[in-house]
Amino acid sequence: MKLMENLKVQLEERSYDIIIAAGVLKKVNEVLADFAAARRCLIVTDSNVQPLYESTLKLGLAEIGAETADYVYPAGEEHKTPETVVDICRKGVRSGLDRKSLIVALGGGVCGDMAGFAAAMYMRGIGFIQIPTTLLSMVDSSVGGKTGTDLPEGKNLIGAFWQPQIVVIDPETLKTLPAEEVCCGLAEVVKYGMILDEEFFSLLEKNIDKLKSLDMGFYTKIIRRCCELKAEVVSKDEREGGLRAILNYGHTFGHALELLSNFEVAHGKAVSMGMAIAAELAADTGRISKELAERQNALLKKLDLPVKAPAGFDAEEVYNAMMQDKKTLGKIIRVVLPDAIGKVSIVKGLEKDIVTKAIRKCCE
Ligand SMILES: NC(=O)c1ccc[n+]([C@@H]2O[C@H](COP(=O)([O-])OP(=O)(O)OC[C@H]3O[C@@H](n4cnc5c(N)ncnc54)[C@H](O)[C@@H]3O)[C@@H](O)[C@H]2O)c1
Ligand SMILES: [Zn+2]
Repeated sequence: MKLMENLKVQLEERSYDIIIAAGVLKKVNEVLADFAAARRCLIVTDSNVQPLYESTLKLGLAEIGAETADYVYPAGEEHKTPETVVDICRKGVRSGLDRKSLIVALGGGVCGDMAGFAAAMYMRGIGFIQIPTTLLSMVDSSVGGKTGTDLPEGKNLIGAFWQPQIVVIDPETLKTLPAEEVCCGLAEVVKYGMILDEEFFSLLEKNIDKLKSLDMGFYTKIIRRCCELKAEVVSKDEREGGLRAILNYGHTFGHALELLSNFEVAHGKAVSMGMAIAAELAADTGRISKELAERQNALLKKLDLPVKAPAGFDAEEVYNAMMQDKKTLGKIIRVVLPDAIGKVSIVKGLEKDIVTKAIRKCCE
């Protein structure tokens, strides 16, 4: 199989490839031969993904002489807990995983985050492979090496930077993903256009039909571009010293909305509203024109993503929730705002009034 679509994440000795090709899951024996041949692998997956794709993966791994065991957790963010991560490690012990063994994440971001974290800790760190199966995990969480789990006190509070050895993306797996999940993933896709690539943003604008009909050729292309953009950012700033923060565009406001809704508002939708607030704020402070903010929002709306928070959100409360965010360093407000389509800046120290005014405008 000709692997036209692989990409490299450049991180010196931790560099790795991202393979993107429709149907590649059926060829894992080829793409994983250099990594998994004759090794013991623990497949981590959830109760939705397991019946859909695990047998294909197992078959491929068996062909290259890998011995497999699996750990299947009940699907859902509520199972993203330290207990599940410890359970993955315990299953590893019972399955005879040693330092040369691998953990293979087959699933969405919840799966990749926990499997990666388990791999980072198991015997002080073993190899791990990402096979993301949601749009969000393909374009975001599987690339960049952030792993971890939630605590009862908050999301993603413990974790490790642990890079995978390879990421294998089969866009075909999106065909079974609920439409809502695809829609949410598209918010992150739009985000990449806004922060780094106007040409990519225009490509999305011109291909709404292909985005909605899950055109495989088009998805392969856009997933590749998103991974390329994320890989570039991560290569320059592996541990979020600076540049990597631009990936939080829409997220500071989005997280606050998620939190206040008790996670009733899905992440992708919250990010979409967050981008709308950020664009409003950028327009209010004269960084961009109203038309430009409108252009962003028009694309979001065409993709069925919200640009207004549902009724009941209070701007002041959103602001306060934002200030609680672990990423709001030292209580100085720090937001990512657009300067143009494809260009953003990290802006510090905005007045509370101006921020709440923009939030208010984006509440129904
Ligand atoms: N590590 C990072 O850099 C990073 C970045 C962004 C988000 N995240 C994390 O990612 C998580 C969200 O990821 P997610 O949205 O992929 O969640 P998820 O893993 O829970 O997947 C969403 C749902 O889709 C189902 N599913 C997955 N693939 C499927 C398929 N192909 N067909 C049918 N159903 C399928 C899952 O069972 C689940 O019900 C959050 O916990 C978030 O914190 C991490
Ligand atoms: Zn996100």
